[in-house]
Amino acid sequence: MTYFFILGNNPTLSIAEIIKIIKPKEKDIKEITSEFLILEDEKMAKEGEWQSKLGGAVKIGKIIEKIKLDDFKKGILINKIIDVLMSKNQKKINFGFSFYNQDTKNETINKERMALSIKRELKGKNIFSRWVESSEKTLSSVVVEKNILNQGLEIVFLFTQNGVFLGQTSSCQLFKEYGDRDFNRPVRVIKKGMIPPKLARIMINLGGKDEFSIRRTCFLDPFCGTGTILQEAFLMNFGQIIGTDKNKRIIIDAQNNLKWLIQRTKRESGAKKVKIFYSDSRKLANKIKQKSVGLVVTEPYLGPMKFNLSDNQFIVKELARLYFLTFRELKTIIKDDGRVVIVFPVFKIKGREYYIQILEQLKKIGWQTESSLPNFLLKNKTVNITKRNSIIYSRPGQTIMREILVFKLNR
Ligand SMILES: C[S@@+](CC[C@H](N)C(=O)[O-])C[C@H]1O[C@@H](n2cnc3c(N)ncnc32)[C@H](O)[C@@H]1O
Repeated sequence: MTYFFILGNNPTLSIAEIIKIIKPKEKDIKEITSEFLILEDEKMAKEGEWQSKLGGAVKIGKIIEKIKLDDFKKGILINKIIDVLMSKNQKKINFGFSFYNQDTKNETINKERMALSIKRELKGKNIFSRWVESSEKTLSSVVVEKNILNQGLEIVFLFTQNGVFLGQTSSCQLFKEYGDRDFNRPVRVIKKGMIPPKLARIMINLGGKDEFSIRRTCFLDPFCGTGTILQEAFLMNFGQIIGTDKNKRIIIDAQNNLKWLIQRTKRESGAKKVKIFYSDSRKLANKIKQKSVGLVVTEPYLGPMKFNLSDNQFIVKELARLYFLTFRELKTIIKDDGRVVIVFPVFKIKGREYYIQILEQLKKIGWQTESSLPNFLLKNKTVNITKRNSIIYSRPGQTIMREILVFKLNR
């Protein structure tokens, strides 16, 4: 079966996450663009399961057919779309179109005309249909979920150099659930720059634990704040979940948020797996057993929100010190095959970018960065990996960007 994945805002992170979860071989990856990834997988109907795991994929579906660009222009695909719509066996059906990676050469496609032809043909077969329109090239997950998924089909057109892949969407990002966890929990820090739950989920997936080992893995966020990362780890069923922070008030907030999530998801029996307590990250080994943690995912303190060039050198040095001392502790408590997935800040000042320079120091105590993408993808034009093996996550206009790094240990 050939599947497509519509990628999130940060294509490299989305691709890395999909590859970590699905683990395709090089030959099974059919296309990668900045908007989608197409791959073959022998497993059938896994879209719902993948969707509930992935933080980055906006839509997932099946490829119906690959069509040459010229054929596409001649419009012979209308019959194919009608076949797919008819296969739903419904007397009333909604349908919509989304066009991905469509370059301007193909702007001639008239979606209105295509929709009208389809409606007319279906009417001739006694099927009542509604076209879900959009002024944009793509329908949002919200529109597809609300208007189409249960009552019809979204047809996607995925443009590549070699032709157009026609696909049908099976599932959309669980935006309601993510929104609920983000906005409806008891304690929410409105402060700008809080880690989005989807990014938390992606980072946990980059840790590479499969669903069998997860249940036996102890998970740690040593700068847990109000518990955004812990929430995602809880939903992913880690065997044990530990959150620590050096702010005593915030520990109560995190405990309340997790309690809320446990009740909300009716997983009361999981409550005993979660432990949230006070600890300075520089003293973790006093509180957590040696070689007991399998995965650390964290967004540490990233420095003050406002800063200027003269403060900057000082801030970067202070943060480097904090992170170094934390990694020294993590070395004691982490298992030999454990991983640390962490955000470092990158400061953007007057067009220059300032990274936290501690990789050499960390190497001396055994920590080494690991690429989140397999070697065969590193030369791909779409992916953007830094020389430090990291992926940058940022929004336009942000002065502090997030650098996502994965570390492993060479004892
Ligand atoms: C960016 S927030 C963490 C956000 C959190 N990962 C989440 O999921 O909501 C950084 C946290 O680090 C904590 N912190 C700062 N220095 C610390 C230290 N030395 N040890 C432990 N926690 C620390 C702060 O109290 C703050 O809650």
